[in-house]
Amino acid sequence: MTGKVDFQGVRWTNLVTLNMRAQESREGGHVLGDRMAEELVRTIDYDFDSLKMRLTSGDRYLVALRARQLDRWVADYLGRFPAATVLQLGCGMDSRAFRVPRGEGTWFDVDYPDVVDLRRKVYPEQDRYQLVGSSVVDGSWWDRVPTGGPVLVVAEGLFMYLREDDVRAILTRATEHFDTGEVVFDGLSSWAVTVSQWLPQPFGDFGMAWAVQDGREVERWVPRLHLAESRPVLHDYQDVPIKAFQVGYRLFNSVPALRDTMRLFRYTF
Ligand SMILES: C[S@@+](CC[C@H](N)C(=O)[O-])C[C@H]1O[C@@H](n2cnc3c(N)ncnc32)[C@H](O)[C@@H]1O
Repeated sequence: MTGKVDFQGVRWTNLVTLNMRAQESREGGHVLGDRMAEELVRTIDYDFDSLKMRLTSGDRYLVALRARQLDRWVADYLGRFPAATVLQLGCGMDSRAFRVPRGEGTWFDVDYPDVVDLRRKVYPEQDRYQLVGSSVVDGSWWDRVPTGGPVLVVAEGLFMYLREDDVRAILTRATEHFDTGEVVFDGLSSWAVTVSQWLPQPFGDFGMAWAVQDGREVERWVPRLHLAESRPVLHDYQDVPIKAFQVGYRLFNSVPALRDTMRLFRYTF
């Protein structure tokens, strides 16, 4: 068991997504099956049975579908560029670095220092794996990352919490730091970001700020980036094993404004 964990604000959200992945795995793991998440909710000293955790666990399949698609993009990229560096921003307690077949390059997981301290306690050390405890918007951590060569930048459940200027600065920096690469992330629509700002504590007030309506706007800010793929997170909702969820997701998917609430994007440069 770790010491007591008391993350607040945006840091708390990584316990929510961890709990969702653990629950999906306990229910059979038909979509993602994140066994490490199950193990972590037993190891981390936090009340994962609390009301606020139970209230937020409903959308576990959305989180599992998002993680699975990003895993697929990561595995595909590392299959093509095994020596690539991987930068996973806002990693939280996510087990991707242990879940997908790793390449030969170094994998950097970046999050706030206290989040990274907790990761050090619960994850084993690995070769070619580095943790960076820093805000992603503080440019100095880039000095630890070797320049040149191919890179894969992964940001899952992160960019919506940043200001547009910060997202733009990170993407610009990535395309300047490396010769070639891909960037994969999820983005929320404007109405979803607005609604999140109205929600009461502890569900609101994470400072959600950035919404992406059309992935092409990112190409306009960072001309080296080319949108290769974009899909709604619920694209593969038929894989969800519970009928009631499937029905709800099918309805949701049939209304474009709802279907596009959360989309996944893949860019190349
Ligand atoms: C919704 S969680 C997602 C965590 C993980 N990617 C996952 O899918 O489980 C958002 C994460 O982004 C991190 N985060 C938010 N703003 C950040 C910033 N400015 N710098 C570093 N990490 C940040 C939070 O600490 C949290 O771990």
